[in-house]
Order: sequence, then C-alpha cells, then structure tokens
Amino acid sequence: MPKQSNSRDTVFFCTECGYESKKWLGQCPACHSWNSFSEEPVVKTGSKASQKASGKVRSQRKPVPLKDIDSYTEERLDTGFPEFSRVLGGGIVPGSLVLIAGDPGIGKSTLLLQAAIRLAEGGRKVLYISGEESLSQIKLRADRIGFRDGDLGFLSETDLGTILELLRQEKPEVCIIDSIQTMYSEDVSSAAGSVTQVRECAQHMMMLAKEENIAIFLVGHVTKEGTVAGPRVLEHIVDTVLYFESGQNGAFRLLRSAKNRFGSTNEIGVFEMRSNGLSEVLDPSELMLSDRPEHASGAVVTCLLEGTRPILAEVQGLVCETAFGMARRQASGIDYNRLNLLLAVMEKRAGLALSRCDAYVNVAGGMHVSEPSADLAVVVAIISSYKNIPVPDDTLVFGEVGLSGEIRAVRQVEERIREAKKLGFRRVILPRHNAAKCRQEEGIELIGVRYISELFRLLG
Ligand code: TYD
Ligand code: MG
Repeated sequence: MPKQSNSRDTVFFCTECGYESKKWLGQCPACHSWNSFSEEPVVKTGSKASQKASGKVRSQRKPVPLKDIDSYTEERLDTGFPEFSRVLGGGIVPGSLVLIAGDPGIGKSTLLLQAAIRLAEGGRKVLYISGEESLSQIKLRADRIGFRDGDLGFLSETDLGTILELLRQEKPEVCIIDSIQTMYSEDVSSAAGSVTQVRECAQHMMMLAKEENIAIFLVGHVTKEGTVAGPRVLEHIVDTVLYFESGQNGAFRLLRSAKNRFGSTNEIGVFEMRSNGLSEVLDPSELMLSDRPEHASGAVVTCLLEGTRPILAEVQGLVCETAFGMARRQASGIDYNRLNLLLAVMEKRAGLALSRCDAYVNVAGGMHVSEPSADLAVVVAIISSYKNIPVPDDTLVFGEVGLSGEIRAVRQVEERIREAKKLGFRRVILPRHNAAKCRQEEGIELIGVRYISELFRLLG
C-alpha cells in the first residue's frame, strides 16, 4: 500500500494552460510545456466565505418554458470607440464578462481607461479597479488622455471579497478589473495569479455580473506562447475573449475577438498608440499600403477579410537561386507550411523550378494572414519575382489555391472589390467562379482565372 500523504488536499495545475492533475508531471499532456506544474490546495466549494461572496443562498429553481422567457431587449452601451464597439459585437452587453488579454505594455489599461472615460462622459456609471497601479499613477495616465466630467470612480484594491461587496453597494453599469492576475480571494490559500486564484476570482465575477447586471472587463496577461496566462479555463468562464496585440512591426495595435457570446468572432479593430492614448485607425488599408514600392517585381496587393471587414495588404515574394544545396524558405506574416505547399503546387502545376531557389514571403505592414484567400497573392508574388516581371500597381488579386493548381472561390467578394475600388485599384484578378457571379462594376475590371498556369499570360 502506498503511503497516504496529504495529496488529497492539494492538486497540481499546469501554469501555462490550466490542466489539472492529481500528481506532479514533468510535461503537460495538454499543452506539452515542460516543468510547468505547480501544487495548489483544493478549493472547498460551499465554504461559508464563498457562499457569502455569492450574496445569498439559492432557493429551489424551476425550468422556464422558452415562450415565457423575455427576449433580450436591453440596449448595448457604446464604448465611445466605434472600433472597440464593433469588436464587441456592437457595444457592451450589460451583465457580460469580457476578458481582454495581451502582452504587458501593449495598452490594455490605456484602452480600458479611455473607454471608461468615454462611457462616464456619456452618462454611464463606471468603476475602475486596479490591482497594479496606485491611484496617482492612474491619475497620471488619465491626465495624458484627458477627462471632462462624469461618474467615474477609481479603487486600488486586490482583495476579491472587498471588491464584490463594493460592487454590490455601488452597482456601477460597467466595472474594469485590472488585472485578474492580481486579484486575491481569501478562500484560496495559493498565491495571487495562480490557476486556482484566477479561476475562483473569475467565477465570482461572473456570478456578480449576471446577478447585478454589471458589465465587467477583466484584464489578463498572456504567456510567452500567447495564451491567457495560467488558466485556459478563464476563456471558458467568460462571455467574450478579446486579444489586444501588436502588428509584427509594432506600428499599430490590433484588437481581435477570439470568443464572443454576443457577436461574431474574427472582428478586428485597429488602433495606434499616440502621446495622448490610443487612437483608432479607421482606414487600415491606407496604412497598410503606405510606402508601397512602385513597379517592383515580387509585390502584389490582396484583400483579406478580417471578420466582416476587408483590409488590403501587400504580399511580397523574393525568389533567388540557392547558393547552397538546400533551398531556404522563409515566411513572415503567413504560415510557413502553407508557403511550402504553394511552392510545391507551383513547381508541379506551373512548371517553375522552385526547388533550386530560395524563397522568401513577407506580408508588409505587419498583418498576420490566416485566410486562404491570400494564396493567390503569394503565388503571383512568387511568379512575379521569379520571372522578374512587376505586377501592375493598379492590380489586386485574391483567391484560394488548391493542390491541382486550381483557383477556388472565396467568400464576400463584393466587399473586397468595393474596398479595392475605394483605394484606386482598377483591375482585380479573382477566381473565375467568383467573377462569373459578380456584377461588373464601372471603373474596375474583373479577370476570372481557373488555373495558376493562366497567370503567366496575365502578368507577361
Ligand atoms: P499600458 O496601457 O500600461 O499597457 P498594459 O496595461 O497592456 O500593460 O500601456 C502602455 C504603453 O503605452 C506604455 O509603454 C506607455 C504607452 N503610452 C503611450 O505611448 N501614450 C499614452 O498616452 C499612454 C497612456 C501610454
Ligand atoms: Mg496595465
């Protein structure tokens, strides 16, 4: 019989992803990170303190028939930032719990303080609770941003019990918790920022948000792998998860929705950090295409769709004969494996001897492209560089490329064409199927293509 230890009272968590295990493990089976397990006490649910925190002891409940449930009619609150509101799905839903995650220094506190100020100026009652900064530090930041008048309260506090009590008394419409990793519940004996603490705090916040109809924003830090620090579980608890990240060259900031119970995901908002806080970039395509080279081979513009929003981006390719036996490939802004696949398709279906060439692909402007509609742009950029023929500056391309070298249809073509037209493009090379279904618009020529081999004729 193995010796009974006190292992019943503790449990091990992966500090990277929140995976729970009864014994210590060297490598996490869920996220494969090494040496990430830490021992934490088991939280006894139903303890007096946690009942107190939830406000009341629940009475017996009965199911409600669907027809008797009131429709959701409450209006959404406007953050004052059209970009931010759109990413949230059209404004803040009262009683929702939103997690904003991002690297340190990316501007999470600034974004939320600016939103808090604008909400308060618009007549909403807002409470900003910071566990990271003192009140005078927040004041310093608010002075940079500028604040006129409104019901905006601040508190520097980390104790969960005190915060919950205060929120019940004050009943603000919106509350900001900066950050969830600094919050501390007395019910749990592990340190602030540990998996159990973060989970416990978030669960209480969720209950409070629903009971008191307070919209709560939680700030969360991310790990080096880019997930929310510690608990992936946090992502399951909250209604909405937004990631605030920088573009590759750090020129602007992207707010991206990864989960949204009240709107579509994949929406992005684009911001720029200025000396007086964040400002919105309402026309990101223009920003992406600034400083574009003229008449250069190996560069072509494509139109990506981020959520419902078309954004133009320049894809650059460089092909040169390899100096060593092994061809080098490098992809920045697109998936490396996708690049290799497209190179193989071009070799086999278009007869380019690319296995003897180094190939580099870059998406200028710092966008990271995950949409397959950018395939055609990669192919055109590579062909243009290989043949040393510039793509005309007024030409835009998009389409998915399949393994037989066929060009496949993509979604929301009309939005993409409209965006291209707005920025002065006159020619669009697109999948033939899309071109056939699309209305011919004045001032823009649509060229449908079926196979990548047809591209030579168009470029040459
Ligand atoms: P911050 O909001 O503190 O980041 P986070 O909460 O995500 O850690 O933002 C930080 C950076 O932004 C900081 O390096 C300073 C800079 N900043 C400006 O450039 N202009 C400003 O008006 C403000 C408030 C901050
Ligand atoms: Mg901060």
